[in-house]
Amino acid sequence: MRLVLLGPPGAGKGSLAALLKDALNIAHISTGDILREEMKNKTPLGKEAQSYIDRGELVPDELATRLIEDRLKKSPQGYMLDGFPRTVTQAKDLDDILQKVNKPLDCVLCMETAPELIISRLAGRRVCRSCGALYHMKKKPPQKVGVCDVCGGEVYQRPDDNEETVRHRMEVYSKSTKPIIEYYQSKNKLMHIDGDMETIDLFDIVMKKFHEAGKHD
Ligand code: AP5
Repeated sequence: MRLVLLGPPGAGKGSLAALLKDALNIAHISTGDILREEMKNKTPLGKEAQSYIDRGELVPDELATRLIEDRLKKSPQGYMLDGFPRTVTQAKDLDDILQKVNKPLDCVLCMETAPELIISRLAGRRVCRSCGALYHMKKKPPQKVGVCDVCGGEVYQRPDDNEETVRHRMEVYSKSTKPIIEYYQSKNKLMHIDGDMETIDLFDIVMKKFHEAGKHD
């Protein structure tokens, strides 16, 4: 299975991806996670990306595309792209890359989530710095404050999850990323899903739709 997860910040892309990658046995490739790893390691690429990410802006297309091309060349046949593409330019570049590596896309899952839900989800989100496990301070807090239940790593708040930056990220999504929906609609690749639902219910619905469409291998 070869997927793209599309949706606004806080739609639940990472949460759904965590379930789908095990169920479908595919690679989870998140440009956000890759960029944060580069920033943590203070690589030249991470330093370049930092100022964009902290302001809630997109990093330049060329930089994001380079990261993805690298990962897709090394990935097994099945993959799930989370956070890429984010512009029509990136979507077109992705088509070229996928043709080169002969791993054509099966489906684009497009999550739609109410704006007020996005704000409350991201204000409460906490993430493990070591293993990336996701928490929410109200709905799913770690058992011990600041400590990951899974690996004991530090649980922190992303600097771009403050309300002002989240609102800007939502604007960027509407302006730069939403046009991709039409792009994939015209290619008949789109599956709309309700990001307001609980992740586990959404996961069940998506798996059912895949089975119905014969897209479960
Ligand atoms: P990225 O890390 O991709 O951020 P994002 O797309 O804004 O998405 P988020 O990670 O914020 O949200 P999510 O949808 O994964 O939600 P999650 O599951 O965590 O990108 C960060 C930055 O990197 C960008 O702003 C940009 O600067 C740069 N970048 C990345 N890719 C790029 C590209 N291709 N081009 C250019 N720049 C790029 O859930 C959020 C919270 O809600 C959690 O606490 C979770 O527990 C809770 N939650 C989730 N789903 C549910 C649910 N269904 N019900 C209840 N609670 C839920």
